[in-house]
Amino acid sequence: MANSKRRARCLLCGQLVPKEPSTILPYAVKPLTIDGKHGCICSICVDDHYAKHNSNVKALTGFSKRSTLNEIIPLPVDTPFTPPMQSPTELLASALKKLAPIPVVVSHAQTVKTNPKPKEITVKEKFACLDNSLDSYFKIVASKVFGQDEAAQMVLYTIYYNQMANLLEFLTGEDLDRRNHILLIGNTGTGKTFLATTVAKAMKLPYAISNATSITSAGYIGAKVENLLESLYRNAGCNLDLAENGIVILDEVDKKRVTPDGNGRDVTGRAVQEELLKILEPSDVYLKEFDITFNTRNLTVILMGAFVGLDEVIKKRMHKKVIGFRAEEEVAQDIEVTPDDLINYGFIPEFVGRIPAVISLNNLTKDVIIDIIYSLISKLNLFFKTKDVDLIIDDRFIDTLAEDIMKSSTGARDVYKRFFYIFQPALYRIFQSNGGGVCEYDEHGNTTLIVGDKNAKMQTYEFESLLKLSFEEE
Ligand SMILES: Nc1ncnc2c1ncn2[C@@H]1O[C@H](COP(=O)(O)OP(=O)(O)OP(=O)(O)O)[C@@H](O)[C@H]1O
Ligand SMILES: [Mg+2]
Repeated sequence: MANSKRRARCLLCGQLVPKEPSTILPYAVKPLTIDGKHGCICSICVDDHYAKHNSNVKALTGFSKRSTLNEIIPLPVDTPFTPPMQSPTELLASALKKLAPIPVVVSHAQTVKTNPKPKEITVKEKFACLDNSLDSYFKIVASKVFGQDEAAQMVLYTIYYNQMANLLEFLTGEDLDRRNHILLIGNTGTGKTFLATTVAKAMKLPYAISNATSITSAGYIGAKVENLLESLYRNAGCNLDLAENGIVILDEVDKKRVTPDGNGRDVTGRAVQEELLKILEPSDVYLKEFDITFNTRNLTVILMGAFVGLDEVIKKRMHKKVIGFRAEEEVAQDIEVTPDDLINYGFIPEFVGRIPAVISLNNLTKDVIIDIIYSLISKLNLFFKTKDVDLIIDDRFIDTLAEDIMKSSTGARDVYKRFFYIFQPALYRIFQSNGGGVCEYDEHGNTTLIVGDKNAKMQTYEFESLLKLSFEEE
């Protein structure tokens, strides 16, 4: 059970909890320990001392009162940017305008059967993602997806490159190289889907996400590539110009490797891979639902999967190459994925040839898991704050959780599941109350919750160790 001496006390005034419900933003997510005492700074003291002792409060809490939200909670994806003086789009457009008259307004040429005529968009709107630098996108993505900086940079670069190629082709009429598509390889829960969707959101590009396992080839019942493009079109507000410039995300593509049956014939993989070529190379796809033709030339496709067994294929190749020259361990460390590795794994050459960017994601380290935990806590803290409850969590509890999660095989997915159970008992009580109080998790995950009901006297609850994920009614 929690030790009552470890309940939150204000380190400035010594009070156990704030007396009045507070409108102060969260400032005590991290446990504060000063001279061996454990507690937080109460809202009254922050109010009283802020003007005079801002630096003092900042030194104690690690963040100042006014900038708390920005420091604890990552900036939302749609945070507005300050546009550069003249954007790349404007520079290109003005340079090219001098050479030849170009249409400034792109109108929706096709008729949409089931939707009203979409609003016309300008070239600038269509390629608005190029108005911001790659670096500004990287900052947003890295503040959300942890421990995958190299992969994030590569994904951002490839999409930016494709968008630039789309713009140049539109402005000059020149045929540029075909678009680069991306393959993300990484263990489950390392952030493949999260990275792809975070990048698409940051760049404000329409995207559609689907699971390759649900896709079947023509003639079979099941989802088709057409359905994927239809949902992209829908997600782009039924604007074909935007949709054709968008992103298709296809999860679990490794499940569509060629799997010969007993007679050496491929059962499903090859046919689906061939079907997927429709979006990997320029083609016109008729979308029945909307009675439009969707050209896939400008799309960026992000394929992903865990590719279980690919390491064996790579090791085999490396072993063949270096046999007699390098030690076995050195071979195992080489993780570069070549097109041949993908072909040997079960992908047809036409498919592999269209994916130049093969990007491996890192396995999550303990430090990365701790970052993910803190980012989740700052989000969940908002639930406590809406009820004026200060949340205090012992670092050692977070450390134990991170170690535990490292042992699981589901990666960051586990963090979310655990936190749902960890906070459930306390939040249940807090939602029942009129709010006000303190909720403290000690190093073992034991919880002490002091709920200050506005109309009644203080109520105190103590929960069993939440590491056991138990919730017992009092
Ligand atoms: N590197 C990371 N940084 C921050 N959060 C992450 C990271 N990796 C995963 N997460 C969190 O875990 C959740 C699950 O991750 P995600 O779906 O991206 O995994 P995945 O690699 O696609 O796994 P799978 O192969 O099972 O589809 C995400 O919604 C995200 O919130
Ligand atoms: Mg996924």
